[in-house]
Amino acid sequence: MDKSQHETRDTGALNFEAIPRPVLLDLLRRAPKAELHLHIEGTLEPELIFKLAQRNGVKLGYPSVEALRAAYAFTDLQSFLDVYYAGAGVLLTEDDFFDLAWAYFERAAADGVVHAEVFFDPQTHTSRGVPMQAVILGLHRACQRAQAELGLNASLILCFLRHLSEKDALATLEAALPWREYFIGVGLDSAEQDNPPERFARVFARARDLGLHCVAHAGEEGPPAYIYGALDALQAKRIDHGVRCLEDPALVQRLADERMPLTVCPLSNLKLCVVPSLAEHPLRRMLDLGLCAMVNSDDPAYFGGYLNDNYLRCFEADPGLNARHAYALLRHSFEACFDLDEPSRQQRYRQIDVLFLEAAAGLPHAG
Ligand code: ADE
Ligand code: ZN
Repeated sequence: MDKSQHETRDTGALNFEAIPRPVLLDLLRRAPKAELHLHIEGTLEPELIFKLAQRNGVKLGYPSVEALRAAYAFTDLQSFLDVYYAGAGVLLTEDDFFDLAWAYFERAAADGVVHAEVFFDPQTHTSRGVPMQAVILGLHRACQRAQAELGLNASLILCFLRHLSEKDALATLEAALPWREYFIGVGLDSAEQDNPPERFARVFARARDLGLHCVAHAGEEGPPAYIYGALDALQAKRIDHGVRCLEDPALVQRLADERMPLTVCPLSNLKLCVVPSLAEHPLRRMLDLGLCAMVNSDDPAYFGGYLNDNYLRCFEADPGLNARHAYALLRHSFEACFDLDEPSRQQRYRQIDVLFLEAAAGLPHAG
């Protein structure tokens, strides 16, 4: 389907104004959703860190789950990344990666997630001597089980750490190729400041040659120039975060015209001090400017909430976010999926339409 068809949905039959606020919040909780910006290592809950540390004989720098959780007070992206990479140190075996991802999929399914394209950071693990095979096979096994037991369509996106070299990224991609069919794309994450996308142009060109989808974090802490870099040098087809595009009206226009998805992560932006409060988060402004933005949870174990927490807390904090915005966010989440065939995408759109029609008509929902 050509992209413009996604925009031209006639919403005339949907009476958004008729939906009372509590009904809208309940609808948001129950609605089917896609999660497109989720780092699997960012779902490692303190309880699982302690369990895996014990199982693997890894010594932790914190005496208790509570003490570890108390350390989750971040001032910026780097202060978070230091804790996040340390936490990932308990992941050693294929079963550890399976347990990590399965725990996420169970939680996600409870939030209505029916489709997830999940980031993983192999360099965080291979640099500690963990075999690439253990990482990918453990995660892949959890994806298969999510499909079979939860009806959750899950796939993997291999991310390069941008604080490391492009040479390291190229070697990582080559090392993952024996399991090429187990991931659908590549991404770029870690410390954004002073690590512009252009540094990774060759590894992304190689990924495109391999038929992989390309995404990149850009405009989280970095300037609008990094969003241009992700689009032009990396040919990214989704921008992760992208909130700083609002500083450049010409860029906003381009992103809207190209219907470029922006995988926005409100609780992440709050915890990493990208925004001062959720009430001031630019999500509503992004939608009103015609951007294809949707809500994601980024690193939910560290940022205080999974996908429904992100949706609900935004709507609670900003009374200006209304049913029309909710409809757009849910729809965009499916519009932006890579690993979804067109009939399935249309089926998700229809499910969302039915939910809004029923809510506007005051019909009680089943279950
Ligand atoms: N890795 C995990 N979470 C990240 C984020 N929010 N930004 C960049 N890299 C990350
Ligand atoms: Zn992220």
